This record gives sequence, structure tokens and C-alpha cells, in this order.
Amino acid sequence: MTANGTETVTPGGEQLVVCTDAARTYGTGPGAVVAVHGASCAVTAGAGIAVVGPSGSGKSTLLHLMAGLDRPTAGRVAHPGLPEGSLPRHIGVVFQGPSLLPPLTAVENVALPLRIDGVAQAEADARAFAALEELGLEALASKLPDELSAGQAQRVAVARVLARRPRLILADEPTGQLDRESAGQVMGVLLAAAATLGAAVLVSTHDMRVADALPTRWSMADGRLVLPDGTAEEDRAEEDRAEERLAGKRRAGERQEREAR
Ligand SMILES: Nc1ncnc2c1ncn2[C@@H]1O[C@H](COP(=O)(O)OP(=O)(O)O)[C@@H](O)[C@H]1O
Ligand SMILES: [Mg+2]
Repeated sequence: MTANGTETVTPGGEQLVVCTDAARTYGTGPGAVVAVHGASCAVTAGAGIAVVGPSGSGKSTLLHLMAGLDRPTAGRVAHPGLPEGSLPRHIGVVFQGPSLLPPLTAVENVALPLRIDGVAQAEADARAFAALEELGLEALASKLPDELSAGQAQRVAVARVLARRPRLILADEPTGQLDRESAGQVMGVLLAAAATLGAAVLVSTHDMRVADALPTRWSMADGRLVLPDGTAEEDRAEEDRAEERLAGKRRAGERQEREAR
């Protein structure tokens, strides 16, 4: 991504985040809490995933590991499809609670990460306003966070993610503090932002209505991530078949070589 907003296009199916037996333990000794037990999963370009689980099941910890905001205490989290050293640019995070900076207006909040990325003020302002407009929020542009409802503030937080044009959006219970109507509006703008960008989106939630808005569902319980029935096994079986085909070709090649001699 350059400051003027051009960027190379990702081919579909590219893996943006890959967790391999990724675990996170808080503390040490007898009081240690395993928030996430060896989780293995991948988020590919264009995916739409809900991570469903009750409070305390490890959703936030998993999302923070995926975002690169936290490091696994065992296992690995890799971002093969994203340029190294620029995760904050390419992974947009929406948090559960208020996250707008109180002294800045909505449009200034949206423009701030762009300024941090080195975008010039005038362009940052224009892109921030365009992001608000894209989500139908232009009327909120000059409001301070104090003047917004929780749902409006959360939609502005989504615009802030959209303005930076990430490849992956991680939203951690983005509707957890909202009533049903506001929750619906936030999910609406979140999915619209992801569609506009062609970005993958992963949303943690304990609300089945939110989960139902996304095509894929993962679940978490007691720090253990469970993928839909068979996913991991199917992936493994497919890998095995691919390896077997390769090995078969290699054997055939060796046979031909032997016969040629
Ligand atoms: N900073 C921390 N220090 C110690 N324990 C933590 C910390 N953050 C989370 N935990 C514990 O890890 C577990 C998973 O928490 P979390 O990832 O926040 O779950 P969720 O987002 O599903 O509510 C919980 O038992 C929680 O108490
Ligand atoms: Mg949480």
C-alpha cells in the first residue's frame, strides 16, 4: 500500500492468518490460566467467519493473537498473505467497547490512522469522509464521540477500519454492548465494509443472530476452538491426497528414468 492508496490485488483463497497449535496462557504456576489451548485454523481471503462462544471462552484472546496484538505462549500465528511488518495496516480491528478518541470528531477519529500511515491531511480527511459516506454516516462526521449513541460510535469505528482498506477485519463482539436494533445496524455496516473492500471478516459473538449473518461458524468453549464438523479432517485428507499424488508422480518419474537407462 502506498500513501496514495494503490495496492496489489490478492488472489482468492490466500491465507491471511494461519494459527498452528497456537496457545496463550496468562500467568505461570498453579494460578496460570490457559485462555486458548492449541488452536489450529486459517482465515483465507474473502472468508466470513463467526467465532461463537460464551464469555470467558477465549474469543478475545484468539482475536488478539490473530491481529498480532498478542503473542502465543506456544505454537505459531503467521500471516502468509500479508506484507511483513505492516499488520496494523492490513488487519482492521473493531473492539467491543467504546474506542473512539473523545476529543476528536467522528471524521477526525476516522482520519487519524491514515495520518499515522503517512497519508497527507487533506487526503486523509477526504478518505475519512468518504468512508463515513460509504456507510451512510456522513451526518455524524462533525459529532464528538460524546454526542453519539453506542451504536453510532460503533459504526464510526467500522468506518475507521474501512478507511484504512484492510484485507482482514477482526471484530471482537462488536455488538456486545448494543440493543438488538443497533446491533443489526452495526452488523450491516460491518458486512458492507467487508464487501466493499473484498476483505475477510471474522466476528466473535455470543449472539446467534450475529453468527447467522456470516457463512462460516467456528465455536469456542473453555479455550478450545472447534471448527465445523470435518473441516480440519477434510483439509488434512486433501493434503494427504495431494501428497500421495505428488509421491505417485515422483515414483512414475523415477520408473521412467530407470526404464530410459
Ligand atoms: N490479561 C489476562 N490475565 C489473566 N487472565 C486473563 C486475561 N485475559 C483473559 N483472561 C482469562 O482468559 C480466559 C479467556 O478470556 P477471553 O479471551 O477474554 O474470553 P472471551 O473473549 O471469550 O470472553 C478467561 O478465563 C479470562 O478470565
Ligand atoms: Mg471477549
